[in-house]
Amino acid sequence: MRVGVLTGGGDCPGLNAVIRAVVRKGVSEYGYEFVGFRDGWRGPLENITCELGIPQVRGILPRGGTILGSSRTNPFKIENGVERIKENLAANGVDALVAIGGEDTLGVATKLSELDVKVVGVPKTIDNDLGATDFTFGFDTAVNIATEAIDRLHTTAESHHRIMVVEVMGRHAGWIALHAGLAGGANVILIPERPFDMDKVVEYVESRFRTNYSPIVVVAEGAVPKEGTHSLQSDERDAFGHVRLGGIGDMVAKELEKRTGKEARAVVLGHVQRGGTPTAFDRWLATRFGLHAIEAVHDGDFGMMVALRGTDIVRVPLTDATKELKLVTPELYAEAEVFFG
Ligand code: F6P
Repeated sequence: MRVGVLTGGGDCPGLNAVIRAVVRKGVSEYGYEFVGFRDGWRGPLENITCELGIPQVRGILPRGGTILGSSRTNPFKIENGVERIKENLAANGVDALVAIGGEDTLGVATKLSELDVKVVGVPKTIDNDLGATDFTFGFDTAVNIATEAIDRLHTTAESHHRIMVVEVMGRHAGWIALHAGLAGGANVILIPERPFDMDKVVEYVESRFRTNYSPIVVVAEGAVPKEGTHSLQSDERDAFGHVRLGGIGDMVAKELEKRTGKEARAVVLGHVQRGGTPTAFDRWLATRFGLHAIEAVHDGDFGMMVALRGTDIVRVPLTDATKELKLVTPELYAEAEVFFG
């Protein structure tokens, strides 16, 4: 058996741990050969391959990024894309594919699997918003990076009696903001699932100053203000139809400065959250995903994706992977609200 492996979409700490586990178990237990496809679906589309075996996966467990490279190429948006992929898989003698990716990459895997390509999916995203799995690897690393940043911002905020606004990733879901905000003792957490009342944010910030502490506002990049509570303008709408403001952290900081008379600074953590070495939890989860993915290949269980349910790794249909976004629930947000203000 010859198995192709690819990583697609935004990179994420733990991708290399998956690749390593797939290859190590595939070679040692099943005697498989592997071929690496470069840069997500662009690899099989344009026949860009690389050697993939035990020597290539040595030492990569703690390394961030992906040794295979990544892209957001979608073969379904390219003329004859699917035919080209099928031809190139056949030309490389590939019997099955392990596709590691998020919503878009697994969406392509789902459609290809319906067109008789033998594929097993592995979910990844630092956003942790894939409905079919309890956690995705990369999320824990991103939360730890954001929490460390918040800890550091507390001390400089106190020294200068300033408001610090920290913008974290999360376009549709506020998981990183919620977890890091809670762990870092944020004064307010703003998430995409719940349009925020700017008047309330001003109140929370002012009450924090009254207790002699400097406020930290954590805002997810996809958070949106409620109309009529702010002076920010935009015609853009997000997936829920709410007003979308690019650079929301900066805008919230400016508005807070204007309305409270206190100095405010915005910090955008951006891709720092996706870089560097994965946490132990992410290495553990990614490794287990890899082991179970190659086991699914061995069982001929194609069109499936591995997922974490509780502490078990299970297989779910690839069609479930992108069916629904996992969003922060009102109950979880209410837990964080106890600490606001
Ligand atoms: O989906 C993962 C993610 O990191 C989002 O949180 C973020 O909005 C997006 O990718 C950034 O994408 P890019 O790397 O293309 O700027």
